[in-house]
Amino acid sequence: MRALLGMAMLAGLCACSAAKQEPAAADLQWADTARPGDVRLAERYERSCMVCHARSGSGAPLAGFAPHWKPRLDKGVDQLVRHASDGFNAMPAMGQCNDCSADDLRALTLFMARSGT
Ligand code: HEC
Repeated sequence: MRALLGMAMLAGLCACSAAKQEPAAADLQWADTARPGDVRLAERYERSCMVCHARSGSGAPLAGFAPHWKPRLDKGVDQLVRHASDGFNAMPAMGQCNDCSADDLRALTLFMARSGT
């Protein structure tokens, strides 16, 4: 019974934070621990994108957090990848990953938007 109550409360919290588009603890944990499956990509991800995209409050859309990525994905993946490559406001060109190829940037973008790997 107590466990059920806890789950109901968690569900309530999640619904609330999704509405406010603020990541919950589980979202922050995903961003902190998830890595692309490919070892080479994971290394690039850790040393570049994660610095800004794996923490809340940096101004960057949080990795894996759908409410941050959904409106961006609506612009089309190609547009997002172009912004990752050329820079976009506070998003630095190439995401500070100078040895990332265009394919790497696309894969990393899709990974963070969780619409592929
Ligand atoms: C120095 C911090 C920083 C680093 C490092 C960084 N980003 Fe970003 N990124 C941002 C910020 C801030 C935004 C939000 C820009 C805005 O919407 O004004 C952003 C936005 C984006 C977007 C969405 C662009 C759009 O059109 O909405 C993509 C895609 C992206 N980053 C990919 C990456 C990738 C891939 C890497 C690693 C190779 C990376 N970023 C590294 C700060 C960073």
